[in-house]
Amino acid sequence: MSERVIPLVDHRAVGPGLVLPNHPVAPTGQLTDTLGRPLRDLRISVTDRCNFRCRYCMPKEVFDKEHAFLPHGALLSFEEITRLSRLFLAHGVRKIRLTGGEPLLRRHVENLIAQLAELRTVDGTTPDLTLTTNGSLLARKARALKDAGLQRVTVSLDGLDDAVFRRMNDVDFPVADVLAGIEAAHAAGLAHIKVNMVVKRGTNDHEILPMARHFRGTGTTLRFIEYMDVGATNGWRMDEVLPSAELIERLRAELPLVPLDPTAPGETAERWGYADASGRHDPALGEVGVISSVTQAFCGDCNRARLSTEGRLFLCLFATQGHDLRGLLRGGASDGDITSALAHIWQGRGDRYSELRASLPAEAGQGTRRVEMSYIGG
Ligand code: GTP
Ligand code: 5AD
Ligand code: SF4
Ligand code: SF4
Repeated sequence: MSERVIPLVDHRAVGPGLVLPNHPVAPTGQLTDTLGRPLRDLRISVTDRCNFRCRYCMPKEVFDKEHAFLPHGALLSFEEITRLSRLFLAHGVRKIRLTGGEPLLRRHVENLIAQLAELRTVDGTTPDLTLTTNGSLLARKARALKDAGLQRVTVSLDGLDDAVFRRMNDVDFPVADVLAGIEAAHAAGLAHIKVNMVVKRGTNDHEILPMARHFRGTGTTLRFIEYMDVGATNGWRMDEVLPSAELIERLRAELPLVPLDPTAPGETAERWGYADASGRHDPALGEVGVISSVTQAFCGDCNRARLSTEGRLFLCLFATQGHDLRGLLRGGASDGDITSALAHIWQGRGDRYSELRASLPAEAGQGTRRVEMSYIGG
């Protein structure tokens, strides 16, 4: 199959310098943006590297031996990440997710988790601390992650069939090792394990039902993600997106489902419960989710901020520029300065790319300045 891959234009180093607001802003835990959306979810990319080369994320023609990943000194240190996280929490963040790239490739990431687990939200509770991983190193690391204070984990898995999975990750990685990682996560006591499957029509959509059958009744929640036009290298095409509505119809034809209410405002996934013979949700069978950012944008209550590997703050997955927090950290800014800067940035936020996608000119898409998901964090 011939696939279009667009070379990467390196926009990592560019971005506006940060201007500190004239008057200090004290954190209230109630920060909102121009659309009234609170700041609740902080997603931190701890490395731009990955041992997989999923074509929708890091196509190997672009992320090859010549590709310059960030040098160690460019990355935020664990202390810098923890300091920023503390300041974000004071503004109302409740959930911290570590992402990448593949976060388990960052050396001693469990030490970072231990530091983050010491932090508290404005309510005095432990933040919801989680991590997105491709699962390849999970069998080895699940126990240490749990011991460090990780509460839950989300594993990306795009198919059960070994040949399909090896093709999706494009490095010939066997599916059995990821399944063993999920088992290890269960055994280590990591709760609410989720599996995320990006669906590309014609590539892995025949794996939808096998995946659903496999995880039904196991306590692991499977979520199907519409393939997105994120980044600028994956050669995204609308005809490869399988709309969630169609996916749910396919599932329902075999496995009875009933719609469930959202658990929290701003949630990415729409929830569906497996039904028993009487047509009611059977909690023992569990649920599935669909994340429909292409066909049903959920920007309206998007409460997510993203911190890139080198410390730029992005206000949207589709943003073209980030705000340089590392410059502040390394330039000697005080906690008060950084807190004020965060407030200023979030209060100016109006991003809602997915809602606008349909009305944007075609050139706003591929080949433009959007940053890669491996850099800003999924
Ligand atoms: P939970 O707290 O476990 O429900 O996690 P989550 O759904 O907030 O985060 P997760 O990383 O599991 O998100 C799953 C996928 O949804 C990501 O890999 C993205 O493909 C997509 N996604 C997450 N956040 C956003 C977002 O803000 N915008 C868009 N367009 N897609 C998102
Ligand atoms: N579309 C949808 N999700 C994507 N991810 C990465 N690239 C894309 C894309 N183009 C998400 C997947 C993967 C996580 C690391 O990032 O959920 O599991
Ligand atoms: Fe790696 Fe995840 Fe991107 Fe695949 S989707 S290349 S596993 S970061
Ligand atoms: Fe949030 Fe941007 Fe995703 Fe919309 S497209 S949900 S604003 S990250």
